[in-house]
Amino acid sequence: MHAVKTTASLPKADAYRELNGQLAAVLAGESNGLANAANMSALLWQFLPDLNWAGFYFLLGQELVLGPFQGKVACVRIAVGKGVCGTAAERRETVIVPDVLSFPGHIACDPLSRSEIVVPLIQGGRLLGVLDLDSPLPARFGQDDASGLAAAVAMLLQHSDLSRLVD
Ligand code: SME
Repeated sequence: MHAVKTTASLPKADAYRELNGQLAAVLAGESNGLANAANMSALLWQFLPDLNWAGFYFLLGQELVLGPFQGKVACVRIAVGKGVCGTAAERRETVIVPDVLSFPGHIACDPLSRSEIVVPLIQGGRLLGVLDLDSPLPARFGQDDASGLAAAVAMLLQHSDLSRLVD
């Protein structure tokens, strides 16, 4: 567990290589889902530039409930199907929104957010929640982010017992 602070100005591929290398080290030997999600949100915040929010929502019934995150206070409950998070959960696929102002039903937790990416957490065919990243820059997220984050989420799911965070 020796995450090293970076300048957060690396090219994206390098940033994800660094991030996922650090994540592998942080997750090694630890299976507590809450602790691992919390540390992963810290690494996302540390290694990825131009974010104003990074964190998790976990599925409780038909609602996504706020989990560990970095950034400002956020809305606690999001129904599946609502907002960008609920849309990614319902579709069970990554959703990239280049301009949140043009996304019908976007839930504005921070009025400074301009773009967003949401990656669903799916383990053994079961939806467990979502990973949500927001940026104050328009069109901050692309396919390179989708791939890098998919790798990070896969590592989290492989190493963590998230069963106490969902029902
Ligand atoms: N914008 C999200 C809500 C969560 S916050 O951005 C942290 C949405 O539309 O689902």
